[in-house]
Amino acid sequence: MSTIVILGAQWGDEGKGKLVDVLAEKSDWVARFQGGNNAGHTVVIGDRTIKLHLLPSGITRKSCQLILGDGMVIDPWVLEEELNRWKNETGEEPDKDRLFISDRAHIILKFHRLVDGIDKKIGTTGRGIGPTYSDKINRFGLRFADLKYIINDNEWISEMCLSYNRTLRSLNINENITEEDLTADLKWIHNRFNHTIANTGLMLDNAIKMNQKVLLEGAQGCLLDIDQGTYPYVTSSVTSRANATHGVGIHPGHIDDVIGIVKAYTTRVGHGPFPCELKDDVGDYLTEKGHEFGTTTGRRRRCGWLDLVVLKHSHRINGFTSLAITKLDVLGGLESLKICVGYRANGIEYHNLPASNFELENAEPIYIEMDGFPELTDKQWLQLAEKANKEKLGLSALPINAQKYLNQIEMLLQIPIHSVGVGPDRDATIHVN
Ligand code: GDP
Ligand code: IMO
Ligand code: MG
Repeated sequence: MSTIVILGAQWGDEGKGKLVDVLAEKSDWVARFQGGNNAGHTVVIGDRTIKLHLLPSGITRKSCQLILGDGMVIDPWVLEEELNRWKNETGEEPDKDRLFISDRAHIILKFHRLVDGIDKKIGTTGRGIGPTYSDKINRFGLRFADLKYIINDNEWISEMCLSYNRTLRSLNINENITEEDLTADLKWIHNRFNHTIANTGLMLDNAIKMNQKVLLEGAQGCLLDIDQGTYPYVTSSVTSRANATHGVGIHPGHIDDVIGIVKAYTTRVGHGPFPCELKDDVGDYLTEKGHEFGTTTGRRRRCGWLDLVVLKHSHRINGFTSLAITKLDVLGGLESLKICVGYRANGIEYHNLPASNFELENAEPIYIEMDGFPELTDKQWLQLAEKANKEKLGLSALPINAQKYLNQIEMLLQIPIHSVGVGPDRDATIHVN
């Protein structure tokens, strides 16, 4: 093992943060490669719950170096807030010695947040992600590398303000960005973060050459990928394997393993098609029992059965070498479980994900049904995982119908299971090998 990619295989919130924290114990570096603080990654260690938006989830391991990579969009004020929270909780200041911001990463400014704030169509997180990526693609963005030159470039600042204010007016946003405000913001970002800005691609490349272990931490999920997701109800970055190395500035040949994180059922936040969505008591049960409320915006997550059409698509794009199934415990107590193996829409049967939402919105899931398994308490699941790992029992420690459910997934997707989550706690994970 040297370079492992951790990716969400569905619509995000699969439990990426939890697995990154677990695997970071044996890693030297954890790097984010795309997205920004639209991500909300949760790590639970005993009675401590840590919610992370920009900081890589390997922050929980002091020996891990942390990178905010080239492909990210970074809100410096959110980063400051997160670093302050971390300092208050732990006394540590990672930006002094183990957190590095890529000089190629783009900066989210107040303007981008204002523009994202008026979105009604997609149900974005409102964090300025889309508008910042838009500026990047329009070759109008601001990168950390350029900050030190731009803070003294009055012409650039004046042009940016003109353009920002023109856009704000055209969108009927009643705000104005003054040259003084923009200059002050840029100076603050420079003073606060200049010491952490680095050629992080070069750092990682050197680390890999020295046989150090690297985790690339995905944000969002494959179905939110700008190219491969349920467009336009997606985020604005490539969330998939192909961007994991590109987004941190190393080549794809470095990847040894790609672990797809799969929630044992499906959730999504925001608008867009969701063929297996359950608008009934089972859906409510999953929401309540799985605490399915967004880490970033607190919105209620929509819940449904596990969708293998989605996962097959995700596997084709990402080539998972194994799957980490999460939140199996949440299904405990349901009399029967369903797995979607295809859709029917407009008289046609689909076994591969259609590109158009006109098809997806009419898609009726084709399910196989299986018997459920008993409900256990959080403590019982934790004990079960601890025993399974100590005695190397693997999945055989699970109730028989839970094993059958997992075997079915493994068999239908032809991807081996890496681990199974049975609770939010770091230790509530059954490792297969
Ligand atoms: P991420 O965005 O993929 O990192 O996932 P989030 O942290 O946004 O959402 C996953 C939620 O499920 C968090 O509240 C986790 O603490 C929790 N979680 C992760 N794995 C498990 C699990 O195996 N069982 C249960 N019950 N909760 C889990
Ligand atoms: P993690 O990393 C779940 C969703 C938003 C919206 C769409 C576009 O925690 O899995 P954006 O703000 O990115 O322009 O919003 O994408 N979305 C997420 N949903 N988990 C996430 O991140 C998400 N990040 C964005 O709800 O539908
Ligand atoms: Mg999340």
